[in-house]
Amino acid sequence: MKGVILAGGLGTRLHPLTKITNKHLLPVFDKPMIFYPIQTLVDAGVRDLLIVTGGNNAGDFLRLLGNGRAFGLPHLNYTYQEGEGGIADALRLAEHFAEGEKIVVMLGDNVIEKNIRRGVAAFKKQKCGARLYLKAVRNPQAYGVAELRAGKIVGVVEKPKRPKSNYAVIGIYMYDNRVFDIIRTLKPSRRGELEITDVNNAYLRRGQLEYDILDGWWADAGASHQKLLETSLQVARQQGLAL
Ligand code: G1P
Repeated sequence: MKGVILAGGLGTRLHPLTKITNKHLLPVFDKPMIFYPIQTLVDAGVRDLLIVTGGNNAGDFLRLLGNGRAFGLPHLNYTYQEGEGGIADALRLAEHFAEGEKIVVMLGDNVIEKNIRRGVAAFKKQKCGARLYLKAVRNPQAYGVAELRAGKIVGVVEKPKRPKSNYAVIGIYMYDNRVFDIIRTLKPSRRGELEITDVNNAYLRRGQLEYDILDGWWADAGASHQKLLETSLQVARQQGLAL
């Protein structure tokens, strides 16, 4: 399976930190944020990776990551997202790279404690469709939220005012190659973006949306200054610092 890391956008929620650099290059404790999702995919056995970046500092990704030697990779692929069209718009750029294969997509600002090996193995066996990771959170309003009935997802709503569960859809998504046809059918949402939640609902309508519950903590490090700080603290504590 191939991997795609989405690291574009203007990072406006983290101004002024992101005025002169890309959000995914900011530090999370002792490493740039993007190191964490790359390591998560590599640890899950995904070795063919595409980084989708954008904005004014795209060149810095090349200088930082090169061909991925720090992760034991022989090569890294890069592409550039023009403008800010949302997660599904960025993913569209991976069509060439995917070459018909299944993909695992991770948002460049998501950091997890453990690993996704079980979900990736399950998706390899899954004949077609999509597979999500859910995590129970205290503030589901801030995320895509899955409504569950009898252990099945029956709906996903992006940032609902009245969430139907406390299960956030985290930024790790597995898709078959139909995802690119689905993206072509999407219309921009009220915030002017092609929403990944609409992609997930399209799979749900086909009866092809599965999920796993993530083990260990999950952090959406790029969501706010507070989240950025909390994620650094969590990573530092995991490394044994008494903070
Ligand atoms: C995005 C997705 C949302 C998901 C979140 C995870 O939100 O739209 O469904 O729960 O990532 O990090 P955004 O960070 O664009 O607000």
